[in-house]
Amino acid sequence: GETMKSEDLLFSYKGISYPATVCSPEQFKALEAFEARSDDVILAGYPKSGTNWVGQIITDLVTTCAKNDGDETNNLNDELDEFPYLEVGDAEKYQRMKKLPSRRIIFTHLMPHNIPESIFKNKTKILLLLRNPKDVATSYYHFSNGLSPLPSYETWDEFFTAFMTGKMPWGFYFDYIFEWNKHIDDENIMTITYEELKENRAMGVKKIAEFFELSLTEEELQGVVDRSSFQAMKENSEKTHGAFGNVLFRKGGVSDWKNLFNEDQNQEMDKKFEEYLAGTKLGAKLNY
Ligand code: A3P
Repeated sequence: GETMKSEDLLFSYKGISYPATVCSPEQFKALEAFEARSDDVILAGYPKSGTNWVGQIITDLVTTCAKNDGDETNNLNDELDEFPYLEVGDAEKYQRMKKLPSRRIIFTHLMPHNIPESIFKNKTKILLLLRNPKDVATSYYHFSNGLSPLPSYETWDEFFTAFMTGKMPWGFYFDYIFEWNKHIDDENIMTITYEELKENRAMGVKKIAEFFELSLTEEELQGVVDRSSFQAMKENSEKTHGAFGNVLFRKGGVSDWKNLFNEDQNQEMDKKFEEYLAGTKLGAKLNY
């Protein structure tokens, strides 16, 4: 088919671009009045950082815990068929969310200054997911050109320019990390990196469970670990994500950027990292 130009697919809200296919200005307006609960379970991360992966771990942890408590609901996905991304949906979504039982699971790609104030006011816990920007760009490129609601690109070079100038849905990666770095000392925020989770999933799962105060037995934790392998999630993806599954669960590794970046692009990104994140706490966590 014909390649859609990004201008047609994106709209701007408070200086950040969003895909008109899944969000709207009206719904962003409604989002400002969203009422967070102190026990909401929030996962924040720039697109393509592994949101679906960590989202699956969180959902599994919360629902396993809820079952132990004799409670069957909890997942936004199950209840009222609500999509778990905070900023994706319609203007009435936040009214419906008021009726959801605790604990609500919420994902978001928003920068902190676009996150509803009540989340910070109620000290709702936020797990901030980080991934190396070179792998994020690589994953984002393939996703944009796959079956997705996002604009596609003729070439990798064209995508790279858009990524490096911040002309991306949900904004500029380096702004995103820079802005979240301002919250790094908030007591309600914990970070986890894609890379650390890749290296030791069991440790990551434990860390996430402890942060959200979800108590599971060792055996239950192991079940969450097993069900969140790339292999397991890819195999189950038709059920969980339909036709999206194949695009979403692409490679699931570290350093695939080496297959796309040329040396100039590599250096350009290193320079951006220096400019925005050198000497910052989140910059250090990225293990760049
Ligand atoms: P790749 O495109 O590099 O393969 P998001 O969910 O934020 O859109 O991120 C998608 C990225 O997370 C994709 O990266 C995808 O393969 C990866 N991913 C999804 N599930 C994973 C898993 N269980 N283990 C490792 N990576 C996973």
